[in-house]
Amino acid sequence: MSIKKYLFANWKMNLGITDSLNLAVKIKKGFNKKWENKLELVLCPSYMALGVVAEAINKTSINLGVQNVFWQDRGSYTGEISSAMIEEVGCEYAIIGHSERREYLRETDEMVNKKIKHCLSRQLAPIVCVGETGPEHRAGKQHQVIIRQIQAAFSGVKVTKTDQVIVAYEPVWVIGTGQALPAAEVEIVNSLIERLLIDLYGREKVANNFRLIYGGSVNSENIHSFLAKKNIHGALVGNASLKSEEFLNIIRASVANNN
Ligand code: PGA
Repeated sequence: MSIKKYLFANWKMNLGITDSLNLAVKIKKGFNKKWENKLELVLCPSYMALGVVAEAINKTSINLGVQNVFWQDRGSYTGEISSAMIEEVGCEYAIIGHSERREYLRETDEMVNKKIKHCLSRQLAPIVCVGETGPEHRAGKQHQVIIRQIQAAFSGVKVTKTDQVIVAYEPVWVIGTGQALPAAEVEIVNSLIERLLIDLYGREKVANNFRLIYGGSVNSENIHSFLAKKNIHGALVGNASLKSEEFLNIIRASVANNN
């Protein structure tokens, strides 16, 4: 049986309100209703543009995500945004622990863990990003890093029957380079992630409540190679999600894939 594919457009800090709205409208126009059952499509604009993008995709099956969320509902946390706030605009997903936040904002495994717990307490699906840096990769520490990040991220995290968790393997050293990791290598890492999650949650829960995706220089040329693998359920797309035609090509390739 084929399972639904997941595509997340991570627009990062690239588009303001007007550009985000224009792009969302173009994607909406190009998105065929027939694809709804095959693909979960999620747009992750900047906080500033959440409102207008939410309006643009209202009454469609396209969903909304944020690029980050804080771990408290409210309080004196200057500059932070809570899940209660983003719920108001209809957000269902939150990217957690993206490598750019780990690198530039010093987000730690512990913070990632708190954010995941917070998301799940609010029925927000976390997209948990893990992946080794270039130096870690060259030092042969790829698996070691994944094991550490997964164990720390999910430490004490309870996943109930209605929760949904996405884990994105994103090798930091290929993000934004135009050179994706071969799908066969991603398949090996995703098997490792799956085994770690099965140890924590059991086979049934992992099959029902978790989805494993890949991110790092995904484009319309290579997306099919990832989705052809049984344990790669979708992609987190950065650069290639910023141009409507290219992103629509990725969408078309994803729904054409019948694995
Ligand atoms: P990229 O970004 O597709 O531009 O490599 C992916 C990401 O950072 O999530």
